[in-house]
Amino acid sequence: MTDMLPLAQMAEAVLTTADAREKTALSRRFAAQWQAARAAGETSPVGHASPPLRPSRPAKPDLLDPRDVPRRRPGTPEGRKALLHAVAHIELNAVDLHWDIIARFTDTPMPAGFYDDWVKAADEESKHFNLMADCLEAMGSAYGALAAHANMWRAAEDTAHDLMGRLAVVPMVLEARGLDVTPGMIDIFRRAKDDPTAAGAVAALEVIYSEEVHHVAYGSKWFHFLCGRHELDPKEAFHGLVRRYFHGALKPPFNEEKRAEAGLPPDFYWPLAD
Ligand SMILES: [Fe+2]
Ligand SMILES: [Fe+2]
Repeated sequence: MTDMLPLAQMAEAVLTTADAREKTALSRRFAAQWQAARAAGETSPVGHASPPLRPSRPAKPDLLDPRDVPRRRPGTPEGRKALLHAVAHIELNAVDLHWDIIARFTDTPMPAGFYDDWVKAADEESKHFNLMADCLEAMGSAYGALAAHANMWRAAEDTAHDLMGRLAVVPMVLEARGLDVTPGMIDIFRRAKDDPTAAGAVAALEVIYSEEVHHVAYGSKWFHFLCGRHELDPKEAFHGLVRRYFHGALKPPFNEEKRAEAGLPPDFYWPLAD
């Protein structure tokens, strides 16, 4: 594996790839290379890179202010397509977010396990995007066919200089929110008994739901690690950083069981709720 790129440069290459399927393919290939090297006991360099402030993205979908993205009733085929399109967009953002945390903070020394976790998460997000894009194509649509939310990268820009802020806002707030809302989405597709593509969507969303809990857990693990390094009280530090970088209150109801599984106790998120 001597011809392997340093990890931060792999991350930069994924971030600067615009086409969504190419991005996820490159992401999965780099993840496999890193994991094979680590399994062989090789010391894989992380190195340094120059990640772009915003990742490259395809020309479609059009990115709109969330208020301008049309809402469709979830009980209709069009509503179900819109839902999967929104999830595909979230997953593509997540691919970039995990490679960005790898490339952005290389001046902060972190154990190799930190990189292992985010490489694994990026690989899983790439699979999730592909699953959602496959479901859309099975429904006669595609990623890019509808408009998507424009400001999903805002959390990354707001925390581009603050690793603890990034961990607090991205995995521990945004990805934790995924744990709250995914069971409801799965129910929507379970109820769509007359739609031959719905069973495939249920299976794909169940994969996403089972893997997302680890991403939240990685966030909590490394947040606590850094709190230990800086002798900070984790709960107080979390509240301070979320109030500083996250715009708005957290929305109950919370999936308390899955959040607990991911290492997020109620006294972390309830004080930040509406
Ligand atoms: Fe995901
Ligand atoms: Fe995730």
